[in-house]
Amino acid sequence: MATQLEPRYLPVVDRRKRPLTDLRVSVTDRCNFRCTYCMPRQVFDSKFKFLPREEILSFEEIVRLATVFAALGVRKVRLTGGEPLLRQGLPELIQMLAAIPDLEIVLTTNGSLLAEKAEALMRAGLHRLTVSLDALDNAVFSQMNDVDFPVERVLHGISAARAAGLPPANINAVIRRGVNESAVLDLARHFKGTGHRVRFIEFMDVGLTNGWRLDQVVPASEIVAQINEHFPLEAIGRLQHNDVATRFRYQDGSGEIGIVASVTQPFCGDCTRGRLSTDGKFFTCLFACEGLDLRTQLRSGVDDDHLLRAIADYWGNREDRYSEQRSANTRNRPRMEMSYLGG
Ligand code: GTP
Ligand code: 5AD
Ligand code: SF4
Ligand code: SF4
Repeated sequence: MATQLEPRYLPVVDRRKRPLTDLRVSVTDRCNFRCTYCMPRQVFDSKFKFLPREEILSFEEIVRLATVFAALGVRKVRLTGGEPLLRQGLPELIQMLAAIPDLEIVLTTNGSLLAEKAEALMRAGLHRLTVSLDALDNAVFSQMNDVDFPVERVLHGISAARAAGLPPANINAVIRRGVNESAVLDLARHFKGTGHRVRFIEFMDVGLTNGWRLDQVVPASEIVAQINEHFPLEAIGRLQHNDVATRFRYQDGSGEIGIVASVTQPFCGDCTRGRLSTDGKFFTCLFACEGLDLRTQLRSGVDDDHLLRAIADYWGNREDRYSEQRSANTRNRPRMEMSYLGG
């Protein structure tokens, strides 16, 4: 397997000098939730055509691509979707990926199947995980995800992952004005002192189906002010320059929270994230409308060197900075749904 790139290709940076260090892989476009901000039920209904099996990358194909991406400088692979735990045999994939040197393997899940899968994930070599949880109140939770699923079972999944030996999790909460603002304090209070870090996320205009409106975005500043009033906070910035979350620690030393403010404080300048869709297209932005078809290349029998060059060239031409350009004019630009692209 070729893992060397001619010096003229290294380091692989885009037109804005941003390297490619982070790959997010959508392992399935399906989900058992119907979050209104991601897979609204009116669109993702019983008639919606999810990808057929033959169009989805196999584990072998994902691992082969991940190896090539690692040779280009990728140091973290995030498995996402859709709901990645719906993909049969996911621990096997994790085990195969964990064998690639210097690669951190992380998972974003809605937590619904976590309790039963946590041990297998840990044994397979998963390093960390992020659990989406938008409310602690069952009625509000259900308003966000449009299913009837008890919060208690997600909380149980989070505890099971800890008991299995995984480190404290990131808890992702998208906040939507008029729906789950009450979750801000609830979540902060619940996870304070547990080691888990809640990351509050501004509702984004990703995809074209979630009916996004600017007046439904609760700005990061408001979220921080609300928590700070009850539990004084201190800004501690980003852990790494290319992180999506800015951090705040509780002044009483009982942990930290994060804020992902891609609407009010875009972070494209440091964006080092590429995305591999469920059917093997490589996208260079969450808001891109087309990607590089790696699956066709893989299945036509090209060697790793060819893939390496194709990816390096594609990333080299990248200019994306959607969140910095967001305006009324960008609102209707074509783009992909997050469940397909990989959150
Ligand atoms: P850690 O490795 O734990 O720091 O996680 P991460 O930085 O990869 O963050 P995570 O996957 O938890 O992302 C949190 C949320 O930020 C996602 O669910 C998205 O809503 C948003 N997000 C992640 N990446 C991007 C990005 O490249 N652009 C934009 N606009 N939003 C992003
Ligand atoms: N806005 C913000 N975050 C979103 N996610 C999905 N859709 C959106 C959106 N419209 C994020 C959620 C979830 C992860 C899989 O993707 O944080 O945890
Ligand atoms: Fe499913 Fe996650 Fe999208 Fe919700 S945000 S519909 S849990 S993939
Ligand atoms: Fe990166 Fe695109 Fe998100 Fe900006 S909008 S941070 S370029 S994925």
